[in-house]
Amino acid sequence: MRIRTLSEYQVAYKKSVETPELFWDEIASNFQWKKKWDKTLDWNFTEPNVKWFVNGKLNITENCIDTHLETQPDKIAIIWEPNEIGEEFKTFTYRQLYHEVCTMANVLKNLGVKKGDRVCIYLPMIPELAFAVLACARIGAVHSVVFAGFSSSAIADRLIDAKAEFIITSDGMSRGPKAMNIKEIVDGALDKVDFIKKILVINRMNSIVNMVAERDVWYHDANQGVSDECPAEEMDSEDMLFILYTSGSTGKPKGVVHTCGGYMVYSAYTFANVFQYEPDEIHWCTADIGWVTGHSYIIYGPLANGATTLMFEGIPTYPEVDRFWSVCDKHQVNIFYTAPTAIRSLMAYGAEPVDKHNLSSLKKLGSVGEPINEEAYHWFERHVGKGRCPVVDTWWQTETGGIMITTMAGVTESPASFAGYPMPGIQPSLVTPEGKPIEGNDVEGYLCIDYPWPSVLRTTYGDHERCRINYFATYQNKYFTGDGVYRDKDGRYRIIGRVDDVINVSGHRFGTAEIENAIDENPAVIETAVVGYPHDIKGQGIYAFVILESHAEASDDTKKSIIDTLVKEIGPIAKPDKIQFVPGLPKTRSGKIMRRILRKIAEGDTANLGDITTLIDPSIVDLIRIAAI
Ligand code: PRX
Repeated sequence: MRIRTLSEYQVAYKKSVETPELFWDEIASNFQWKKKWDKTLDWNFTEPNVKWFVNGKLNITENCIDTHLETQPDKIAIIWEPNEIGEEFKTFTYRQLYHEVCTMANVLKNLGVKKGDRVCIYLPMIPELAFAVLACARIGAVHSVVFAGFSSSAIADRLIDAKAEFIITSDGMSRGPKAMNIKEIVDGALDKVDFIKKILVINRMNSIVNMVAERDVWYHDANQGVSDECPAEEMDSEDMLFILYTSGSTGKPKGVVHTCGGYMVYSAYTFANVFQYEPDEIHWCTADIGWVTGHSYIIYGPLANGATTLMFEGIPTYPEVDRFWSVCDKHQVNIFYTAPTAIRSLMAYGAEPVDKHNLSSLKKLGSVGEPINEEAYHWFERHVGKGRCPVVDTWWQTETGGIMITTMAGVTESPASFAGYPMPGIQPSLVTPEGKPIEGNDVEGYLCIDYPWPSVLRTTYGDHERCRINYFATYQNKYFTGDGVYRDKDGRYRIIGRVDDVINVSGHRFGTAEIENAIDENPAVIETAVVGYPHDIKGQGIYAFVILESHAEASDDTKKSIIDTLVKEIGPIAKPDKIQFVPGLPKTRSGKIMRRILRKIAEGDTANLGDITTLIDPSIVDLIRIAAI
């Protein structure tokens, strides 16, 4: 399954398009299946209905853990670096990981968790987070990891949508200089949720927490005397592996569903090839496991390849701005995979914090989450990679499960700010907004994918119609990504950014409607319109135009109260960068907000607002424009 040269890539790509089933059959055969599949692929993009490795039986944890016990039981699977530099780091060999996962799996079983049950995991980046994810997979429970930064209200929404009756959390967490009692945040979610059967609590901080008898259980009590062997549940290829919530252009975040077989094959295949992983390399993906990048490239992809994966509890700037580089040096990291927003924020401190450390172990660098601007790309390549490490700019989405368009380290090449070529198996196409195909090269359009790949989302949990409408109904027989893209003369792709009402703030996705609805919860607010605007560090910032109730004062206190509302409804990551009070919003006669105008104002480009004659009240535009921040 390994591609090592450009010509091997070309051969693999051709084969993957001409005979996709044969292509994926061969790759999937490298894994351990309890029963081989009868049919490689069943699909249509109209319902949609996609099934890979039909009737195949497996357990992903046997591929991520058990197989390595035969060949490399004492190899380190996970290196865990804590938030505080004074605390010892931890390592877990594949054998230790096996026992940790089996123990937690048995604890979950004892608590009553069964195959198919949804388990919400709300944990900081501690080893138990990886164990919890894998323990769920071991027993066939569906994990729904919620980033430990979301608010009680956001947790409640996700619990309700997934009908998750079990929660795994911790007493507290520390991330950078801040410490928090996160059990309290979970407790806050339960005001609206009355169906939780058990909460398993990991002791991370020795904090005093409220434990409800019968329902809340300490992990260190529950694992006493529990066996550290647990047979892996037999799963169908198409059984759910996990749900992960992500924002779209409408409504509340939706639960993207990935299934066992296809997701395993694709996350492992892309990890091996994109990063050109070699045995004994240490891989560090700086994402949080609360996001898809952490699922695929901290846990499943690396472990399925028997790699050593590093988990970091902290943030890049704590205790000092050189933390990333000191961790690379300390653990002799070979593959370093991070986000442009982190690079841009660290760039601001210059090269000195990087140069203080010996980064000679680094061999490959990666970027993910948002377009990487040329300046950040070159800084990363030059100061971190010292000009000798290939940088892969990997484009993909929660819904795609794995990397879709990218260069492969040292195999294919692309200029800065280009994601590059499609991975084998990925058939991108460009369309006009109206859906007319755009053929040829040196063209720009909306990015679609024309053929299924093993880890395409299967549904959005509990609402298949929403999945169809969001991704498969805009353009017939195509998966629509929501991104705009440029294809250059050599067939390489450069991602321009979202073309829908989704904004990408520091690599985190938000729907404008989601933020608007949250702000509208504030009693001072009548109506809100939110747009993204270019932000030097975050990629995009959040700009909110707010109409206040007549009793409310257009003051800093009201702004603060709006920010508090957002933190309460979604979490601190959704804080707006700018709030402008406006007397009205530019609406068309059908009542639609003309966001195009607001976007221009937010960008500071107020001279070219285009045609505003279709607005009910064009004069409102001048009032907003004059007062723009
Ligand atoms: O707009 C694209 C952007 O992030 C979106 C997906 O967000 P999410 O599901 O949260 O997943 C992020 C991590 C996989 C995409 O629609 N995006 C992601 N990677 C890139 C990117 N934009 C440009 N270049 C990338 N490498």
